[in-house]
Amino acid sequence: MDPTSERENSSGQLGETRHRSAVALHINGTPRTLTLDHRTTVLDALREHLGLTGAKKGCDHGQCGACTVIVDGRRANSCLLLAVAHDGARITTVEGLADGDRLHPVQEAFLARDALQCGYCTPGQICSAVGMLGEAADGFPSHVTEDGGDGSAPARLTAPEIRERMSGNLCRCGAYPRIVEAIEDVAS
Ligand code: FES
Ligand code: FES
Repeated sequence: MDPTSERENSSGQLGETRHRSAVALHINGTPRTLTLDHRTTVLDALREHLGLTGAKKGCDHGQCGACTVIVDGRRANSCLLLAVAHDGARITTVEGLADGDRLHPVQEAFLARDALQCGYCTPGQICSAVGMLGEAADGFPSHVTEDGGDGSAPARLTAPEIRERMSGNLCRCGAYPRIVEAIEDVAS
C-alpha cells in the first residue's frame, strides 16, 4: 500500500477517500447509509457513527461477547465484522429488541431474575440469548447436545445446554447462575 495514502489529516482522520466506501445497513429496522473507513468494524460503526452504545467493546478480539448483535438473524461478535463486508446486512442491537414500550421477553427475564450486576456484559448476553434461542428452535446442536442432534427438531434447552451455548459471553461479575435461570424462563 502506498504509505502516503495513510497520511492523517489534522483531525486525525484518514484523508484519502479511496479508503472509504458507502455502506448501507439496516439497523433495528431503519436503513442507514454511512461512509466508512474500510477498517471500521460493525461495532465501531454502531457505537462511534450511529451513537448506538448498547453493544459494548470488551476485548475487541472476539473473546468476550460483550459486542454481540444479531446480523441477518444470527448472533455475531460485531468487533470481528468489517462493516464494509456487511453492506446490506440487517442488524439488530439491544436497542432494537423491545417492541415499543414492551421489552423483549429475554430482557424481561433478565430483569425478573436480576441477572446482572454491573451490566457491562448484559446487552451482549441478551442479544446472544435471543440469537441462541433462535438457533435452538432451528435445531442447531451444540457441543453437549445429546446424540449430537440431527437438526430435525428444536433443541431442548437444559441448563447445561444453555451454559454451553452461552459460553462465548463472559461476565466478569459472575452473574452466570441467574443468566441461565433467566434464559430457562424464556425457553420453558
Ligand atoms: S468486544 Fe467483541 S468479543 Fe469482546
Ligand atoms: S454483569 Fe458485570 S460483567 Fe456481567
